[in-house]
Amino acid sequence: MKKIILIILSICFIVVGCFISSGSASINDAYKIHEALFVNNSYNRNIRPVWNQSQAVQVHLYMFIKSIQEFDEVNEKFSFIAALRVVWYDYLLQWDSSLYSGINEITVSYDDLWVPELTLSSPSSRSASIGKSTDRVRVKAHGECEWIPAALIESTCSVDVKGYPFDTQTCSASYVSLGYKIHEVNLTAAIPTVSLMGYQPNALWDLIGSKVTTEAIGYGGESEVSFTFFMKRKSAFVVVNIILPIFFLSILNVLVFVLVPESGERMGYCITTLLAIAVYMTIVSDMLPKNSEPMPVISYKLMVDLLISSLIVLVTILNMRMWNREDNETVPKMLKVLYKILSCRKCRNSGKNQIHTDNNNKVEVISINKSTKKNINNDDDDATDNGDDDDITWKRISHMFDMVALVSFTAMSVISCVVYIIVAKLSAN
Ligand SMILES: *[C@@H]1O[C@H](CO)[C@@H](O)[C@H](O)[C@H]1NC(C)=O
Ligand SMILES: *[C@@H]1O[C@H](CO)[C@@H](O)[C@H](O)[C@H]1NC(C)=O
Ligand SMILES: *[C@@H]1O[C@H](CO)[C@@H](O)[C@H](O)[C@H]1NC(C)=O
Repeated sequence: MKKIILIILSICFIVVGCFISSGSASINDAYKIHEALFVNNSYNRNIRPVWNQSQAVQVHLYMFIKSIQEFDEVNEKFSFIAALRVVWYDYLLQWDSSLYSGINEITVSYDDLWVPELTLSSPSSRSASIGKSTDRVRVKAHGECEWIPAALIESTCSVDVKGYPFDTQTCSASYVSLGYKIHEVNLTAAIPTVSLMGYQPNALWDLIGSKVTTEAIGYGGESEVSFTFFMKRKSAFVVVNIILPIFFLSILNVLVFVLVPESGERMGYCITTLLAIAVYMTIVSDMLPKNSEPMPVISYKLMVDLLISSLIVLVTILNMRMWNREDNETVPKMLKVLYKILSCRKCRNSGKNQIHTDNNNKVEVISINKSTKKNINNDDDDATDNGDDDDITWKRISHMFDMVALVSFTAMSVISCVVYIIVAKLSAN
């Protein structure tokens, strides 16, 4: 029994040993491959690696985006970290792996073989070409070459901040094979989108989609592949730091008409809010590109706010003049008529209330008391209304103006905020 087991074990060892030795290649095999491919073939990296030189080298591009590095609206610059996977067939780099102990893949330095030169056609910095001599290219026995250059790609991007901060930006980076026409080197997108494998989300931008297109033709008939990214701004930061403070300032601004005139603070208060809005205008214009095509909606909103604030200052100045007039100065008839029209609504309202209480005379004692009081008050009002107009002083007129201004400027501010949100949201999509 023991002998049989030993024999079986030794056979197993021999078989396994055979497999290992047949799979193992020595350094001499690697030398031989490189000699056969690059020395004996007299490989020239300037020659396009297709047998029929009137056919194009088909180059397939894949892109993997790692992260969005920066999106600079002011300088219209977009940079991201990505790797390209470039795949093509090299007719000259083929070998029979069985002759070289089964080696079917080698790695070659970028400078030793023909590589499709890829150049960014819209660079925003100097490094437009993606290849460098430290890169390596993997070559398979049937001639497939795979080169994976990784780079910080800096491209220009035309920015559209109309719907700031609810905007969506479209940026693209296009690669051309400079020096070769499309019938010599044909770049094509291998997959229709950019691969998000290993993508790290950005703090300011959501990458909502991507697209790879090959239709475009470069400067002089080169083939061009464009990688397009669609990004949506994460608006929370701007909403909290810019939009909400602007809304609060609008609310504070109209409250100047509630501030009692005797305090003497009115002018200081409304000038301060005017300046605060001007400061926000400066901050926002620093955050956005200085172009007028298209103008960001938020700039118009700030302009309207500044206009409203200036009008408030103007109205406050005029109102303070009215307030400080002597009581014995005569009030123009027109103002008196206006005052009566505006305050008459009040007396009519109280009249209605009285009828209302009369109808609901359920708790009799209290309501009688109330209605009698009301009647007395109404009589007083009637007396003043019917009586001579001398009762209408400048101070009363000024007070009335405060109320009118408060209502109308509040309405203006609310309308401006609502219109801004609607227009910004609409122009963002
Ligand atoms: C390369 O050519 C030399 C000389 O012609 C020859 O001796 C050698 O075997 C060849 N090497 C390979 C790997 O074919
Ligand atoms: C080379 O390719 C062109 C275009 O595909 C073809 O017309 C031509 O016959 C080919 N030449 C040879 C020698 O195969
Ligand atoms: C380039 O390749 C694409 C897809 O492989 C093909 O449809 C197109 O005709 C090629 N263009 C040229 C000029 O060879």
